[in-house]
Amino acid sequence: MSDFIYRFIPGKGERTLLLLHGTGGNEADLLPLGFAIAPDASLLSPRGKILENGAPRFFRRLAEGVFDEEDVVARANELAEFVSGASRKYDFDLNALITVGYSNGANIASAMMLLGALKAHGAILFRPMVPLSRPPQHPLNDCEVLISGGRFDPIATPDQVNALADLLRERRAQVDVRMQASGHELTDRDMETARDWLAPSAVA
Ligand code: MLT
Repeated sequence: MSDFIYRFIPGKGERTLLLLHGTGGNEADLLPLGFAIAPDASLLSPRGKILENGAPRFFRRLAEGVFDEEDVVARANELAEFVSGASRKYDFDLNALITVGYSNGANIASAMMLLGALKAHGAILFRPMVPLSRPPQHPLNDCEVLISGGRFDPIATPDQVNALADLLRERRAQVDVRMQASGHELTDRDMETARDWLAPSAVA
């Protein structure tokens, strides 16, 4: 397994959530959210390896909202390799993996999907953007995605959210978009939306 700092918390259920924090976060950040939305799931939570003025991220950016796409591809592949290694080490099923990312974490999550680097069953993307300008046409037929955007988000704007949803749908992912009455920050409504979406009838 490549050298990410991470936490793994085994759960009683079949599902594993891959938790990917936002810029300046760490492997502890999304654990409470993971427990809240899927109390039985195992949780795998790595820390992004890129440091931007001391703030961990999952890939480099050139400016706010301007991504170093070569680095996005390299880091998405590296993270996917880490997750595959973790699935062998902790014996969890990648087909029952749900990626949960916030902001920069959502962006690396969708990059892994669009590149076909990680075959997860589902993804919950909070405040995501389009991570790659010309992503490959990798089919995502079996993938269910919840996108939770902020109507007033100046960073992950509604246009970005809708453009990402279109890219995923063009590749045949099943995408639900919910727009919250908030900005870039996560709210209780995001947590409730994710919990309801994950309820057994939504994602088996
Ligand atoms: C962030 O604050 O993390 C960004 O706006 C999203 C990103 O850089 O990936």
